[in-house]
Amino acid sequence: MTPLGTPCTPSATRVMLLGSGELGKEVLIALQRLGVETIAVDRYPGAPGHQVAHRAHTIDMTDPQALRALVEAERPDVVVPEIEAIATSVLVDLEAEGAVRVVPTARATRLTMDREGIRRLAAETLGLPTSPYRFCDSLDELRAAVDGIGYPCVVKPVMSSSGKGQSRLDGPADLTPAWEHAQEGGRVQGGRVIVEGFVDFDYEITLLTVRAVETDGTVGTHFCEPVGHRQVAGDYVESWQPQPMSPVALRRSQEIARAVTDDLGGLGVFGVELFVRGDQVWFSEVSPRPHDTGMVTMTTQRQSEFELHARAILGLPVDTTLLSPGASAVVHGGVDAAAVVFEGVDEALRVPHSDLRLFGKADSRVHRRMGVALVHDEDVDTARAQAALAASLVRPRPA
Ligand SMILES: Nc1ncnc2c1ncn2[C@@H]1O[C@H](COP(=O)(O)OP(=O)(O)OP(=O)(O)O)[C@@H](O)[C@H]1O
Ligand SMILES: [Mg+2]
Repeated sequence: MTPLGTPCTPSATRVMLLGSGELGKEVLIALQRLGVETIAVDRYPGAPGHQVAHRAHTIDMTDPQALRALVEAERPDVVVPEIEAIATSVLVDLEAEGAVRVVPTARATRLTMDREGIRRLAAETLGLPTSPYRFCDSLDELRAAVDGIGYPCVVKPVMSSSGKGQSRLDGPADLTPAWEHAQEGGRVQGGRVIVEGFVDFDYEITLLTVRAVETDGTVGTHFCEPVGHRQVAGDYVESWQPQPMSPVALRRSQEIARAVTDDLGGLGVFGVELFVRGDQVWFSEVSPRPHDTGMVTMTTQRQSEFELHARAILGLPVDTTLLSPGASAVVHGGVDAAAVVFEGVDEALRVPHSDLRLFGKADSRVHRRMGVALVHDEDVDTARAQAALAASLVRPRPA
């Protein structure tokens, strides 16, 4: 591997994060601990990662010219996308020109930026099990597609995250509202949607999968213990690790995760989202980066998913060992306010084996994720209950 440099000197190893929310912030901190020079980019000033990086920039990352100009000005060794809403064509070009290394690869960021690229790759190219699906560009096409797929089903904009614009349809009366909701919640207007058959799963997991350089110079695949999680309105509210699974379901999950991440290639952490019923496993989607539900690893693993990502992208060895069962519970804003203070942090931190991350986001909204409570304990059930308790004790109020 190339030796690591010293930040802010000519020898520096420079890494640029595209997207600097709470996940990017932790990656930046992990990189800084290894003496990496860090550059945080986000669409608004004062984003969580802006607060810990050597340099902070505010640009519209979907603007190809602005993105290219910034990369050319900063000349990072590595670009690490943290979000999906990026002009990925610029990353494809820059990588092809040999100007930067994109994590894990420019192609992976392009394929996963909308649901169509990754779904077609998984289901049609790799032949992995997924829910039945169709893509539609109009309400008429949606009606015809649902005739084939049946109820219940789920409609999502092809470009959206955190459950935005997503609805479950239980009958024909839900068609028009679902189409309209998807148009409002998508990242682009006039948007294409995916309709998926509803998978009646027992539980869903994120299988954090790490591609890292081995002693012999080849790239190896490492799996973390499965992370179970619960979503409300398409957004994560709590997660725990390890999720108990049958040996068959675990093996199938790892096979699916390996197939997808082998194809996407590169180095780093992937969050492979899977639905499980009994021994059956369905691929749902994959983030070519640390996953929000994986924040639990900050209390459960020897190396959190953020440390794993930092190490893997620098070509360093990784260790996915679980130290203790644990859980995470989200702290939401609870109020709409331009600034908040957090009451009850002391009470939350008195919960045994608890820890807390407050992300440092300036404005609060009722459902905005402002922090996360973390608890490790002797079993997952205890950890979940205690994490929920700790999160509930943190009370944001307008400043
Ligand atoms: N076909 C399906 N059947 C059953 N449940 C589903 C289906 N698709 C999505 N869900 C539920 O909705 C959640 C969010 O869906 P999905 O991950 O596709 O959306 P997202 O907006 O990309 O979310 P994020 O970006 O936060 O991962 C899933 O974790 C799952 O709980
Ligand atoms: Mg998801």
